[in-house]
Amino acid sequence: MYDFRKSVVYQIYPKSFCDTNGDGLGDLRGVTAKLDYLKTLGVDYIWMTPFFVSPQRDNGYDVADYRNIDPRFGTMEDFETLCREAKARDIRVMLDMVFNHTSTEHEWFQKALAGDPKYENYYIWKDGDPDTPPNNWQSKFGGSTWEYAPQVGKYYLHLFNKTQADLNWENPEVREEVYKNINWWLDRGLSGFRIDAIINIKKKLPYKDYPADRSDGLSCVDHMLADAQGVGEFLGEMRDRGFASHEAFTVGEVFNEKDEELPDFIGDGGYFSSIFNFSTNVWGGSDKGWYDCKRITPDAYKKCYFDAQKKIGDHGFYSNIIENHDQPRGVSYYIPEGDVCLESKKMLAALYFLMRGLPFIYQGQEIGMENLPVIPIEQVDDISALDQYQVALDAGFTSEEALKIISLRNRDNARTPVQWSAEKNAGFTQGTPWLIVNPNYTKINVASQEQDGNSVLAFYKELIALRKNPDYKETFVYGDVIPFEESRHNLMAYHRKGEKDLLVLGNFQKETQEVTLPSKCKNILLNNYPNVEIEGTQVTLKGYQVF
Ligand code: GLC
Ligand code: CA
Repeated sequence: MYDFRKSVVYQIYPKSFCDTNGDGLGDLRGVTAKLDYLKTLGVDYIWMTPFFVSPQRDNGYDVADYRNIDPRFGTMEDFETLCREAKARDIRVMLDMVFNHTSTEHEWFQKALAGDPKYENYYIWKDGDPDTPPNNWQSKFGGSTWEYAPQVGKYYLHLFNKTQADLNWENPEVREEVYKNINWWLDRGLSGFRIDAIINIKKKLPYKDYPADRSDGLSCVDHMLADAQGVGEFLGEMRDRGFASHEAFTVGEVFNEKDEELPDFIGDGGYFSSIFNFSTNVWGGSDKGWYDCKRITPDAYKKCYFDAQKKIGDHGFYSNIIENHDQPRGVSYYIPEGDVCLESKKMLAALYFLMRGLPFIYQGQEIGMENLPVIPIEQVDDISALDQYQVALDAGFTSEEALKIISLRNRDNARTPVQWSAEKNAGFTQGTPWLIVNPNYTKINVASQEQDGNSVLAFYKELIALRKNPDYKETFVYGDVIPFEESRHNLMAYHRKGEKDLLVLGNFQKETQEVTLPSKCKNILLNNYPNVEIEGTQVTLKGYQVF
């Protein structure tokens, strides 16, 4: 069996990756066209976010048909070509499955609205009068989790947007449908899945109010989810009936897992092969909304990483990220404002990439793409940012303040088209891009970085090659993480100990910093400043230096 632990995964958001027919939307042929680029980078898996038939209210996370490809992205034949070409380059393909909810345009939901009792039982309903939602739960995108459907005179539950109705996993027929869809795709030669929002499938019954504004900072919905017992029964069944027969590689989008659950989730024979390490994502999910959110400091970042490593121990492997399609660009979020530069981008890359776990790279991360400047509300596409804009207005902020509030977390930040070159529209499309191109594309783009041995892209290639280097692979993949000088302010440093003892040192600030090495350094494998030589054990780390 293929040992997934040694892999590097590249996440593709197809809509923004590469457009081949000039309609302004990335497509499957665009992914195929860039496979050589990905091969040169050195990735083993590509994970593609959903391209199934969908009204695209949440860019494909609102699935209207699990088995057909949205014509905007291409055809089944395009998909088969992509898989074949990927295989020829030894790249494995993962899909993104959304089983917590469907689009309200899905046939099942439409039948439910038309009064078919079989399909009504596919979703979660509650009686109530049209003006008073059944309880105080706030959806993850803002606003009540309950939407009144006049056709049936009841409310349906949606933990995300109102066009994403939650499926009723308590109904065995729903679970059957899920497993059938998983197997249908696996039979087409896929290697695995990223499983969306899966920790939300088990709800605590009955659907009662939760006290808002608690000191634990959880929202009512997160509190309810934490209280719900028994998600493991569903997940175990999904593994047995879905993934197991094909030995599929699976990564669960799981938040707030409890320590004692980790062995069940990702231990030997666990529900998933891996889950994401979201520990550095300290937004806090309070009911207040995004205006209540904070940035993370370098020291807190380090603590999150080390705590997560301690927690997981030998239970399994995290999937490590600095960004994805839901989060700000890592360099714009984790590096203090004003310090975002070539060296700091490389430092951030090395520190997460060399940790124990599978490194995931989100498209554009490898060239150091950054967040957008504040854009007018008319240009915002992200449905959660739009919902949260309203939440901020309702809380009394002016529209200018509300715009500023949503700008850091607006998911459009990571969804702007990939900057392939300095040509028009960053070389993403010949047409009009579906979403604004980050104006910095003339400076930050693949074409120029491919020519530059000192670029962020060149550094990512070095990182991947280092992790695969036969001399160090064993240590980087399986070795333990042992923090070094853990309490030192703005220093993030750790040993990877296995066959070898490798030390990763990152100066997480622009000021220099003196460090005494535990022993004389034999060999510098990687660094983000040219011509570094170390004699003895006394080292002066330059601003954001890593090696
Ligand atoms: C996950 C996805 C996100 C989506 C949400 C609802 O968190 O990553 O993009 O909006 O689920 O499906
Ligand atoms: Ca297209």
